[in-house]
Amino acid sequence: MTDAAAKKKDAPAGVTSLPSWQALEAHAREKRALKDLFAKDPERFKKLAFALPGMLVDFSKNLVAPDTLDLLLRLAADSGLEKARDAMFAGDKINTTENRAVLHTALRAPDDAALKVDGQNVSEDVADVLYRMESFADSIQTGVWRGYNGKDITDVVNIGIGGSSLGPRLVTEALASYHVPRLACHFVANVEASDLALTLKGLSPETTLFIVASKTFTTAETMQNANIARTWIVNHYKDEQAIARHFVAASTNLEAVKKFGIAPDNMFPFWDWVGGRYSVWSAIGLSVMLAVGRENFDEFLAGAREMDAHFRAAPLKQNVPVLMGLIGLWYRDFLGFPAYAVIPYHNCLNRLPAFLQQLDMESNGKSVTKDGKLVGCPTGPIIFGEPGTDAQHSFFQWLHQGTDTVPIDFIATVKTRFGNADQQAMLLANFLAQSEALMTGKENKAEPHRNFAGNRPSTTILLDELTPRTLGALLALYEHKVFVQGAVWGIDSFDQWGVELGKVMAKALEAEIKAKKPGAHDGSTLGLLDYIFSHK
Ligand code: F6P
Repeated sequence: MTDAAAKKKDAPAGVTSLPSWQALEAHAREKRALKDLFAKDPERFKKLAFALPGMLVDFSKNLVAPDTLDLLLRLAADSGLEKARDAMFAGDKINTTENRAVLHTALRAPDDAALKVDGQNVSEDVADVLYRMESFADSIQTGVWRGYNGKDITDVVNIGIGGSSLGPRLVTEALASYHVPRLACHFVANVEASDLALTLKGLSPETTLFIVASKTFTTAETMQNANIARTWIVNHYKDEQAIARHFVAASTNLEAVKKFGIAPDNMFPFWDWVGGRYSVWSAIGLSVMLAVGRENFDEFLAGAREMDAHFRAAPLKQNVPVLMGLIGLWYRDFLGFPAYAVIPYHNCLNRLPAFLQQLDMESNGKSVTKDGKLVGCPTGPIIFGEPGTDAQHSFFQWLHQGTDTVPIDFIATVKTRFGNADQQAMLLANFLAQSEALMTGKENKAEPHRNFAGNRPSTTILLDELTPRTLGALLALYEHKVFVQGAVWGIDSFDQWGVELGKVMAKALEAEIKAKKPGAHDGSTLGLLDYIFSHK
């Protein structure tokens, strides 16, 4: 066997062996400057800024020439992206390692979708739960549902972690200007005691409703916090019956919910085909519905539905999630950028980076393909972010002059429901200045510390306004972008086996810590246990 043949045999058979992949590798060796790309084509903005309902997405400040996009689109076609997308929407079991369909899109599908999974009409199930959530939200709002001694509910505490917290918390906080009166929503995720303790400090057991949000209803942190909250209620009333008026659940695990003491009528179900990080559209969004009311929740779903329709039908070269995914993949795999930043210029979106970290990094932080082979190329990037303008006064120095290039998503709203026109003008000026400065740079040969190399890429997403509808569309855009990348890499974006090992080890360590008896561990862990035991 020749050297070349041997190399080919060892090479992964996946995406990296496609001719379009290799063409992109060659293409990546060519230099490209954003300034030149704009100079060469005065129509560049027009060609690369896409208007969708309620938003504009501008890809023009990205390091892609027209032929880059052509090659990326060829890669998408060669790797079967359209087939993969259609299989997801059709309810095929594309989460192969868990043998599950992936149908968060069914949670916001048109009324007549009539989707089936294993012969079950899931569209009917979705409509049914949505109706129950709406009735429940109405009953809390109108005071039909009251606490155990007849007082109105004034506070809702969502106890959940990961996808059972990040999505609902982001959306509830993002839609602050849509909140219904007299009801405050709180979120407790961390098992670190202050999270629950400080939340409960200001609340009364008589007017507080807990939503235990957990797909599995076995997540250790959530169950620990839920049990403490349960004791808080029972100790107050000295009566277990009170649980029925102060606890509801969003889960797929009816038996565990019943065992906790929550009646089946007070459980809002969802299904194994809804992944945790894709679950805000399901019963896990109950806190959102309570916070903003049913109409706004429907609008949130409608925004996502519009994005789904676009993703399904738009030709790939005008398909915004597809382009976003492919440009991200270009940076990660061909230009070698390991990270990307998300900077929302709206304080109400301050939880967006945390939400996207789970969405993207839990979905695409994988090293093997669906058929168990090494992927052979870098997959999901590191994601970080903070709201602008705050971030400008912290890590933007590094973005402008650091040694790494980090592509950025700049997100802002044209209009705001808060503040005054001067604040908004200053905000938008900063928002535009940053992406322009990063792109154009500013040469200063005399004083190198004042030199800005420029050519640092970004995508700009301008929402007309932060509404339930545009927020729904924005989150669905990111979901589909993550899907596009995972599909091209050939990985399973919908499992999360990487979180299991730590969970198992924590269980054993918890018993050892409680018994003050270390088990068999490495030297560091034993040393740390010893320190903990001697300082308790
Ligand atoms: O830690 C992994 C994870 O399974 C996430 O994927 C999920 O969103 C989170 O835990 C919470 O899970 P559950 O909703 O089952 O409590």
